[in-house]
Amino acid sequence: MKWLLLLCLCIYTVQCEDYDDYDRVEKADPKAPVDPRGHRPLDKAREVYNPVRYVPPPISGGSRYTVRPTEAPIGRQEHVDDEDKTEQPDAGGCTHASKRMGELCPTGCELRTAMLKQERNVKVEVNKLQKDVDTLSRSSNDIYNYVDGMSNALRERQLVSNENGDLVTQYTEDLETQHAFAKEAINTVFPSNLRILQSVMDKIRLKILRVEKAILAQKDACQEPCTVSCPIPVVSGKECEDIYRKGGKDSGMYLIQPDSFYQPYKVYCDQTTQKGGWTTVQNRMDGSVDFGRRWDDYRRGFGNIAFDVGKGHCNTPGEYWLGNDRISQLSKMGPTEVLMEMQDWSGSKVYAQYKQFTVQSEITNYVLAVHGYSGTAGNGLLEGALSLFGENRTMTIHNGMMFSTYDRDNDNWSPGDPSKQCSREDGGGWWYNRCHSSNPNGRYYWGGSYTRNMAKHGTDDGMVWMNWKGSWYSLKAIAMKIRPFFESP
Ligand SMILES: *[C@@H]1O[C@H](CO)[C@@H](O)[C@H](O)[C@H]1NC(C)=O
Repeated sequence: MKWLLLLCLCIYTVQCEDYDDYDRVEKADPKAPVDPRGHRPLDKAREVYNPVRYVPPPISGGSRYTVRPTEAPIGRQEHVDDEDKTEQPDAGGCTHASKRMGELCPTGCELRTAMLKQERNVKVEVNKLQKDVDTLSRSSNDIYNYVDGMSNALRERQLVSNENGDLVTQYTEDLETQHAFAKEAINTVFPSNLRILQSVMDKIRLKILRVEKAILAQKDACQEPCTVSCPIPVVSGKECEDIYRKGGKDSGMYLIQPDSFYQPYKVYCDQTTQKGGWTTVQNRMDGSVDFGRRWDDYRRGFGNIAFDVGKGHCNTPGEYWLGNDRISQLSKMGPTEVLMEMQDWSGSKVYAQYKQFTVQSEITNYVLAVHGYSGTAGNGLLEGALSLFGENRTMTIHNGMMFSTYDRDNDNWSPGDPSKQCSREDGGGWWYNRCHSSNPNGRYYWGGSYTRNMAKHGTDDGMVWMNWKGSWYSLKAIAMKIRPFFESP
């Protein structure tokens, strides 16, 4: 027992020394500024920092969107909305009554629309065909009657011919040949044509039956609103600005489909901040989701888009990363702006906004390009950490950097050296340089302040925005939202 106690004490002392080490540094000069981290200073003897990197400018120029149209008076607007909502069940719960409002659950219901259209076409065809067949059978009846008449005439002629000798016999033979030919046509050619037509009709009828059955099944499936643990709002669009312009003016989860070639997906739309239209690509607020993830996770996206907190709508955002492929695609559809909103643990809020924001595709490791800062949080992405100087600051600029995760090192810190990887030390996937002035996907520290020894690698791996709170303060909340850029009136 004594030994065990001694052993414990030993471990404790060793640990204390460890801690004391750091304390000594901090206690040595209490007035010294808090060590700004973020950068990885050069080992002057051996290293040179090469900040040169191909920096593609963000997409700028003409916007896909014009200025927002002036809004209808509030009273009328709501009336229109109500009308739309009451009419909706008639549309099978799928298509919003008003075309302006877009369509719901595009996969299922577009199929239904397509089939209904198909059915209309087929019906017209069949009706035409029916008429043709009727005409044909009528005309073949006429011919039959004609031939019948001819047969009678022939019989009569044969009676007469017995009296009129050879001349008439000659004529009769001709008539007989003709009669045989016509009869042959009626008995074999016409019926076989009719049979073919009949079988074509039968086949088409079968097809229509199948289409009808499929439509019924689809109708049944569409009776229930499409739910994926959250009811999906009626309005959908290319992104949240599109949704806003179609009338989706409440913040919450929506289904967006930026490109009809890809599956639609869920996203949280902020429709209130700066008049709305923001597609949320990143959100942190309670540490409920682990952001220390692999390349594939960051590529595809992870986390929870939104929750229903008992209101019947998913209008409470969760923690998530939308996914680099999606972010890249959205940002490349045209000039795009980005808004990064932050909150500290006392409730203060700041933001950083860039008029231009583009993320390249995976081929170039999602190179980041931003331009046109405004805001209150500090321009970390373009200028780096203002608490650092010279090269030390340059190495914390994020503009022009590729994306890195702990399993895919594309940062500017000794490329190729596996012991020098920003993402491994700083806790998340990000556009690390050498390494960061901001770290929105870093570790979530409850309460804000944290220290070197709380960090896994002794680095500032929290949710850091150095130009606001320094390296050793992890924010309470941060969100990244994008919107197609358009001139405000
Ligand atoms: C860069 O940082 C290192 C260590 O943090 C420091 O020794 C050096 O003086 C800094 N350089 C500049 C130009 O501030």
